[in-house]
Amino acid sequence: MLMSTLPLPPLAGIATYATAARIGYSVDENVDRLTRIHWAERRLMTVMLAHLARTPEWEVKCALALHQWYAAEHADWLRKRISEMRHPTPSLDKSPNDALDAFLEEVLRSRDTVELLVALYQVALPALRDAYSHHLQATNPLVDQPTRRFMRFALIELTEAIDWGDAAISSLTSADPAALAVISEWKDHLGCYLDAARGIAGDPRISLTEGDERRGVKIRSMEVPLPPPRAADPYKPDFTPRRDARFQGSYNFEFPPHVIYNDPKVPADERNLALLCKRTLEMDVPETMSSFMVERADQPWEFYLDYSRQLWDEARHAMMGTVALEQRGIDWTELPLNVGFSLRLNLHATAQERQILLYAIEQSLMPSDTGKRFEYGTAVAAGDELSAHFHDYDWADEVLHAQIGRRALKRDGITREDAIQRGQAIHERTWAELDRYKSRGTQTNWWPDFVRKVLGKESAVAGKELTAPSIVG
Ligand SMILES: [Fe+2]
Ligand SMILES: [Fe+2]
Ligand SMILES: [Fe+2]
Repeated sequence: MLMSTLPLPPLAGIATYATAARIGYSVDENVDRLTRIHWAERRLMTVMLAHLARTPEWEVKCALALHQWYAAEHADWLRKRISEMRHPTPSLDKSPNDALDAFLEEVLRSRDTVELLVALYQVALPALRDAYSHHLQATNPLVDQPTRRFMRFALIELTEAIDWGDAAISSLTSADPAALAVISEWKDHLGCYLDAARGIAGDPRISLTEGDERRGVKIRSMEVPLPPPRAADPYKPDFTPRRDARFQGSYNFEFPPHVIYNDPKVPADERNLALLCKRTLEMDVPETMSSFMVERADQPWEFYLDYSRQLWDEARHAMMGTVALEQRGIDWTELPLNVGFSLRLNLHATAQERQILLYAIEQSLMPSDTGKRFEYGTAVAAGDELSAHFHDYDWADEVLHAQIGRRALKRDGITREDAIQRGQAIHERTWAELDRYKSRGTQTNWWPDFVRKVLGKESAVAGKELTAPSIVG
């Protein structure tokens, strides 16, 4: 240490004089790397969205909903950092590298849950983790501190996601040797494409030393031809919502909680129970949103960032419902959590119509006498502290969602009034489409039995004809 320094931790604690004196990435190299990492985060978000509705396992839907939001947040941060370093900002809406894109296209082509989980959590996200780790080590800690700061946060989330994926894969494959063969084949396939792209950021997967390079050692993948791509054919997304074998009532479109939660003739405890069922049903919103986020591929970045957050919120609302029901000892997988909403919208409405209906529903939740304030009051009146806690936050989230929907539709030149009017028509038209799916399940009013089982009393609407809900949210 030179005499001019006091014996205090130097350089704000981010580096030593020695480490800060190392030459790291140039701004050009840095921007190139971040542009590739950004593209991977962004496209992995889309992969997760593309598979959310069709993937049957409930817990996988929950995780995809969270991890697509992590990816969106990381992509957003990277966009800002790239624009700080380069004016004008390079285009961030197109692929920076064909080989990287070829890898991501293969990831998208995962055919079932196990393949998807392996592609995401055992190949793509670990490769992203390598890219961030490599950057943290190689960049200068002083000149590139803002990037390093973000990457340390991103690594926490990536590690959490990878750990979830590893546990999910072992659970789905532990008793299935055939699945293990699928995993290793699919991993090898994707590994070839990843090597050809030199990883996410352009680093080779096997790092070469200077000595290796002098001796002419090459990276394996540069010599091995790629296996035939699944992406040879254009991608055909499948937004048909599916649920796993635990859910028996996916096609029972009778969902009495929609009309019971605000029926003044029904006591608060029963209305509160209806609200908890409605929260749990909310998984149909991520199933619907993911489809329009994928299909509307030409929107400004804010569209994806906003709706990505909203999608995660909607999945959390469904999870709140499951937590509250679990706490009461209710097996919520036995509820007829039908897929009617995502089914009729994903298959019988345009992407923009899905957005409009969602917004119209959110508007219908705003009046204080029937909307989210009323729902919170119902939970309080029922003396259910946990439900009140959940509905307090559900209300706050829904106010945010109404703003998100408004911003998005404004970009399309659609006013609030237009959306409400068109939303009603879209609701009625798509509701009628459900007729063709009714034979896939039994249409029964399960509510009176459920109330008797959970509340130990007769439902206030037992034996009464229920009206169809006007707009369902
Ligand atoms: Fe919602
Ligand atoms: Fe909600
Ligand atoms: Fe919402």
